[in-house]
Amino acid sequence: MSLIFVDLMSFSSDTTPLVDRFGRTIDYLRVSITDRCDFRCVYCMSEEMTFLPRAQVLTLEELGFIAKAFTELGVKKIRITGGEPLLRKGVLKLLQEIGEIKALDELVITTNASKLEEMAVAIKEAGVKRVNISLDTLDSEKFKQMTRTGDLNKVLKGIQSAKKAGFDGIKINAVILKNRNHREVIDLVQYAVDNQIDISFIEEMPLGIIAGHDRAEAYYSSDLIRSDISRKFELTAVPDKTGGPSVYYKVKDSQTRVGFISPHSANFCSNCNRVRLTVEGRLLLCLGNEHSVDLKKIIRSNPGNMEKLKENIIKAMQIKPEKHEFNLQEKPVILRYMSATGG
Ligand code: GTP
Ligand code: 5AD
Ligand code: SF4
Repeated sequence: MSLIFVDLMSFSSDTTPLVDRFGRTIDYLRVSITDRCDFRCVYCMSEEMTFLPRAQVLTLEELGFIAKAFTELGVKKIRITGGEPLLRKGVLKLLQEIGEIKALDELVITTNASKLEEMAVAIKEAGVKRVNISLDTLDSEKFKQMTRTGDLNKVLKGIQSAKKAGFDGIKINAVILKNRNHREVIDLVQYAVDNQIDISFIEEMPLGIIAGHDRAEAYYSSDLIRSDISRKFELTAVPDKTGGPSVYYKVKDSQTRVGFISPHSANFCSNCNRVRLTVEGRLLLCLGNEHSVDLKKIIRSNPGNMEKLKENIIKAMQIKPEKHEFNLQEKPVILRYMSATGG
């Protein structure tokens, strides 16, 4: 990696030093705060998982410190993910700390909603603006099959609590697999419309070795999903942008937007604005590549040294790859599971 010298003092609050070799500005950080999860979704994890020992995991203080560094470098949106982020002890304290950072426009979270019923109000009070919730089916039997351990009823109650808590936005994320849940897309859109929330459909990505299905056989494209939905709902393309990869459509006569996240059929990498921090402290420059920088090592060998950390984050932008190279026909090249990065 070539060394790039940057004068940190030359950046005012409305410019950002986080620009990569392809001219993309990075203003969105996704932070995985635990690799653990109480579900074992078939596309995300294998049934038997080994989770990280505590010493390898960033402390809450370290997570807060790194988040602050990114906001000082121009990051405007932070998404807290997991595993399941609401399982991490002390999560509310961390959310509050990050939520108080003035330079941040949006603190958001992605959750499986298993703990949302109890925690929605506290999360909102801690400063979380929007919540994305994974929900792939409304059939409780199928839900059990897809998550292996999840309870649909709890998730649905969690969604109702989130609605009552009054977030600026709630979005369902549904990963669609052929012959598992592809016949449910209309029901899922109807659920989103009835509840006045948004929904995004995601094409499965080949991360980590999973045994339950063949990913190439289970591929169900966003185009197919959209055409299925059009049998019941009229969709109109809208230019809305959340900073995420979804391309949005509005459902006629409703408040609901339907998004499509299409890593295979419509690559969105040219607009990539994000990087990820794993709970091990690895700064991943792309979900579909292994290019990374060990920020844990940097902060543990230079405790409290914000400038050193920022310098290394800026340098890291130079190794951000141009795009992901997912190939469903081959064995996954990326062995890390989605739960290590939270999507
Ligand atoms: P919004 O702020 O609501 O737009 O959220 P988001 O789509 O950025 O976040 P969410 O956690 O809902 O992410 C949904 C899914 O999009 C993730 O699980 C990933 O599967 C996918 N995704 C997000 N960013 C990337 C990316 O950079 N590359 C790829 N391949 N997929 C991504
Ligand atoms: N491909 C696509 N999406 C995935 N998710 C988890 N694993 C995968 C995968 N292999 C989704 C979850 C969650 C989001 C954070 O990532 O459904 O909504
Ligand atoms: Fe857990 Fe989310 Fe992975 Fe499902 S997709 S196993 S809820 S981390």
